[in-house]
Amino acid sequence: MSEELKITHSENKEEKYIALYPQICSLIEGEKDIIANMANISAALKETFNFFWVGFYLVKGTQLVLGPFQGPVACTRIAYGKGVCGTAWEENKTIIVPDVNNFPGHIACSSLSQSEIVIPIVSNNHVVAVLDVDSESLNCFDEIDQKYLTLIVEQLNF
Ligand code: SME
Repeated sequence: MSEELKITHSENKEEKYIALYPQICSLIEGEKDIIANMANISAALKETFNFFWVGFYLVKGTQLVLGPFQGPVACTRIAYGKGVCGTAWEENKTIIVPDVNNFPGHIACSSLSQSEIVIPIVSNNHVVAVLDVDSESLNCFDEIDQKYLTLIVEQLNF
């Protein structure tokens, strides 16, 4: 397994995901440790897309607790149903926020973040974590991000 990513210098987002996805699969293949795998997924996404913030929050009781991430320091705990992350957990569905200023209850870990996507991760019919990706640009995320980020987190064995 190579620990070096080959990043496609394409302007096309889907081409980048298509090149990245098998590399993520081989990065986490054969490694059972969930923290190690979440850490490498965060790093691979950050390195490929230079997103402002990429990371995981893990369900612990009634809260989400900060897990492996890449980017500026972030809030450590989010309650069920709060913010974009807590809402994605409560509703067990991906939430794409084109402009965080228009999302009621958005939790601003950084005022620089402008748009966001949160993907719930399900194991045994329960949300066990979420993947949160933030951008400094408005309207950064769409169904292409949803499709490939969902495929990526499905590789995690909780
Ligand atoms: N904006 C998120 C909080 C987490 S940070 O963006 C890293 C939310 O509203 O849930």
